[in-house]
Amino acid sequence: MIEQLRADGSLRHLLTLETLDRRQIERLLERAQSFVRPLGERPPRSRLLEGATVANLFTEPSTRTRVSFELAAMRLGATVVQLEVQLSSRAKGESMLDTIYTLQSLHVDALVIRDAEPGVPALAAAHVAPHVSVLSGGEAHVSHPTQGLLDALTVYQHKQRFAGLAIAIVGDIRHSRVARSAWHAFSKLGVSDLRLAAPATLMPEREEFAGCSRHTELASALAGADVIMMLRIQRERISEAHLPVGEQYFGAWGLTRERLALARPNAIVMHPQPMNRGIEIASDVADGPQSVIRDQVRNGVAVRMAALAEVLSCGRASA
Ligand code: CP
Repeated sequence: MIEQLRADGSLRHLLTLETLDRRQIERLLERAQSFVRPLGERPPRSRLLEGATVANLFTEPSTRTRVSFELAAMRLGATVVQLEVQLSSRAKGESMLDTIYTLQSLHVDALVIRDAEPGVPALAAAHVAPHVSVLSGGEAHVSHPTQGLLDALTVYQHKQRFAGLAIAIVGDIRHSRVARSAWHAFSKLGVSDLRLAAPATLMPEREEFAGCSRHTELASALAGADVIMMLRIQRERISEAHLPVGEQYFGAWGLTRERLALARPNAIVMHPQPMNRGIEIASDVADGPQSVIRDQVRNGVAVRMAALAEVLSCGRASA
């Protein structure tokens, strides 16, 4: 596994939450919270990263992660480059590493990478020059560290604690990088009642998700839960033959108002999006009073500001 820290203990890369300790995660969350503003207020701006260049290199589709990394870099004063992979020389057969070396020669200081292949962010991190940082914008089914952080920040904002919470993660956990990063974040932050709920084909292997309870029907996972995190079926990682049928899936696993009533009355409903309404979640739940899905999106910019500030501002004062 790639070392994410510099010799002085500061964060150089952000590829996974798995090897960060609780204090490092809390530091990122505290810094992110300092960047959060209510909607309607102007977001914070600083010149902390003035002169730095951040490149977004996404080979899988993205709305939230890509836009929020771009806004985060701009709000800290950095220059941002969006590499359109289909318009780049990758389409002519250039390797990922040659693309990365090219961006490095163009004075890019941080690469944000999303890729469908496991290991690509780590491969980049292993080959970039010492002054360049790599941040994962989502690695296959493996890891989505800034999503894990924004999910933790959202929970903390609504519950003011992690200890004693019951958190149910529901849906296609097997193929979900969001679930893996949430598990790393929540377990390190002290959540002891983490529940996985999925049909057998979408449940991860036993060796993964140590410490979580497993539920093969929804009701027991939702009973008394404080937080419900719904997941999309990752169609892009499942063969046609194994894809659940939408209506049947909703009938057994969709979060409806009736099922939400099994959780605590003040339970919050989360979803990383993109969301398939009527398959994993009913519209009136997604848009209802217990939904914090839009807070998750807002927190995404703050978390990405914190991550970029941490990896690129070594030695400089906080924003
Ligand atoms: N949650 C998330 O990663 O969304 P995008 O795929 O739109 O970036």
